[in-house]
Amino acid sequence: MRKAAKAGHIVTSHLLPTFARVDLGFERGEGAWLVATNGERYLDFTSGVAVNALGHAHPHVAQAIAEQAAKLIHVSNLFRIPEGERLAERLCAASGFAEYAFFCNSGAEAMEGAIKCARKYHAVNGAPERVRIITFEGAFHGRTLATLAAGGQKKYLEGFGPVVEGFDQVPFGDLAAVKRAIGPTTAAILIEPIQGEGGGVHVVDNQFLRELRELCDTNGLLLVLDEVQTGMGRTGDLFAFPHTGVTPDIMALAKALGGGFPMGAFLTTAAAGKGMTAGTHGSCFGGMVVLDLDRHSAARAERHHQGEPRHEEARARPRRKTARGRTLAMIFDKPSTRTRVSFDVAKDRNNV
Ligand SMILES: Cc1ncc(COP(=O)(O)O)c(C=O)c1O
Repeated sequence: MRKAAKAGHIVTSHLLPTFARVDLGFERGEGAWLVATNGERYLDFTSGVAVNALGHAHPHVAQAIAEQAAKLIHVSNLFRIPEGERLAERLCAASGFAEYAFFCNSGAEAMEGAIKCARKYHAVNGAPERVRIITFEGAFHGRTLATLAAGGQKKYLEGFGPVVEGFDQVPFGDLAAVKRAIGPTTAAILIEPIQGEGGGVHVVDNQFLRELRELCDTNGLLLVLDEVQTGMGRTGDLFAFPHTGVTPDIMALAKALGGGFPMGAFLTTAAAGKGMTAGTHGSCFGGMVVLDLDRHSAARAERHHQGEPRHEEARARPRRKTARGRTLAMIFDKPSTRTRVSFDVAKDRNNV
């Protein structure tokens, strides 16, 4: 602990205080459990904010990172990366709609890529004026300037200067408002299958999503899904959209995709991605270390988690907040301090 003599306030750490951190540190994890520096054990309901889908210290994840780091940690995207090509192929095949994947480092970056991809599609189709993207109140798409504008939440935008242009936000679930918002400069509709960060958990109605798809088709728009939070098995399927019967043109992924290793991706059909040619987009690190978990390791992960409470039990545990959503998408409703409440909920006193 250090004191900032000049500033006149106490600095408890040199990490920029953008998070209201809980005064609790962890030393290690084992599956669904975390062990604090003071030896206390906590059942981890936060999963690192929907990131650690395979739990902590999963042997396959640890091995994949260690092996790749010892072999080759970076060659840049100027050369072929066979593991990356393999993961792209498998993600596209699993999605059932995509032909291409672009790897990056986070959800916001995946969303930025998805937005660029949608705009570029219209530009190369001879309609560069079609740049506007319809989004929904309560959305969350990340903390970069463009993704903040897409999310449209005042509390996150305040004080950061001009809001990036090109997003038209309409009330959640309001089809008439979507229709009114569509104009000659509209490029796409962007939506999360389940909103989880905008002050509640809102599952998009399947019929509403089908109608959005129809609107996209009749108006030449692209449907972009943000599956950063819902993707990679968090709703009981690899992605949330198959539950809805609707297929997107572009989809953003991150969080659980790397199992804790920072990684994001956007997937696109060949048609929607046609503008993303050499030099149009890039990332130094995107997808350099690939954790290509197959079905066997998923099964191993399940065994690794034996003893973890079932979803129904987890629903029964929260004392102060409720859990809603689709199957395994465990998102707690409106915690004032999300992390604090989740840990509070998760703390298993029998094991302290
Ligand atoms: C739906 C959604 N999209 C995008 C993001 C941004 O992801 P990241 O924090 O990895 O940039 C998040 C993060 O919580 C999210 O929940």
